[in-house]
Amino acid sequence: MRILSGIQPSGSLHLGNYFGMMKKMIDYQEHDDLFCFIANYHAMTSVHEGKALAQGTLEAAANFLALGMDPEKSTFWVQSDVPEVQELAWFLSNFTPMGLLERCHSYKDKINKGIAANHGLFAYPVLMSADILMFNSEKVPVGKDQKQHVEVTRDIATKINNEYGEIFTIPEPDIDDEVATVPGLDGQKMSKSYGNTIDLFQDEKKLRKQIMRIVTDATAVEEPKDPDTCNVFQIYRLFLDKEQQHALRQRYQAGGMGYGEVKQELFETVRDYFVPFTERRNAILADKEQLHKTLDHGAQKARYAASKVLRKIRKKSGMAY
Ligand code: ADP
Ligand code: TRP
Repeated sequence: MRILSGIQPSGSLHLGNYFGMMKKMIDYQEHDDLFCFIANYHAMTSVHEGKALAQGTLEAAANFLALGMDPEKSTFWVQSDVPEVQELAWFLSNFTPMGLLERCHSYKDKINKGIAANHGLFAYPVLMSADILMFNSEKVPVGKDQKQHVEVTRDIATKINNEYGEIFTIPEPDIDDEVATVPGLDGQKMSKSYGNTIDLFQDEKKLRKQIMRIVTDATAVEEPKDPDTCNVFQIYRLFLDKEQQHALRQRYQAGGMGYGEVKQELFETVRDYFVPFTERRNAILADKEQLHKTLDHGAQKARYAASKVLRKIRKKSGMAY
């Protein structure tokens, strides 16, 4: 099955990104036809500083590769290295009702937060639709917050298929309920914009500090605690199999376990889990020439796949004259 997703290179990565999207993508490579990219055009909607965006792009790519993205098993590239996607976005724009975009939560949330409305922000879902439709994607792994954008993609694609015949594959969002929303330190969705993240690649001290900041209630050490309402448990369980989750649940319910103790365990678990990845990431970032080669190779594969869809569209739309 053709699976596609992208991640923005804006800011450091956190556990929400990892469990909500990256880990799933990496696991898919084994049995599926995986397309994965760094969405640097999308990141322009929030980052206008060129140097920072370039550096963020390289780091995001290195992170993905270190975590297990294999550029031989998958197609892995940087969005702007495949400019065909912009051409498709324009084509899609002409079939995208204003109302469809006006209803997007993510756009409305940003505007409500006081971010100035501009066309990039408004047209964001159209570009995302181009990413998805360009490569005949069947399944799109994303966090819950991106579900509506995949629905927009489906609407646009269906409209065009009705007018022009079957050009596009209609994609399905792929959202895993277990990890649909990874909670942050305060129990809200973990997100860069809420400042409540546990970041993936950082030194031990900072990691421990973040974990110790997880908000807990005032239940005394000796009292039983409810794992289902505990932010520490909700994060910890992502690292545990069913049996381990059950055992931890019992320790909560038995009483006698303090939040400090379980936070310390969570810290050690997260640290140990990411140590090998951190070493690999540093090695990848130290060899920029090789990293560029890997990304060029991915872009070539992606451009080849894009050219087939684009040829059809140019013909149907009259752009090939
Ligand atoms: P952020 O909210 O920190 O800005 P992004 O919007 O860049 O994160 O998200 C990148 C990817 O990670 C998306 O697929 C998104 O749905 C997923 N993701 C982000 N935060 C979470 C979370 N807390 N739980 C699950 N998935 C998440
Ligand atoms: N909008 C997505 C996010 O912020 C990133 C993205 C861009 C994407 N294009 C995509 C995800 C295509 C899936 C498919 O997380």
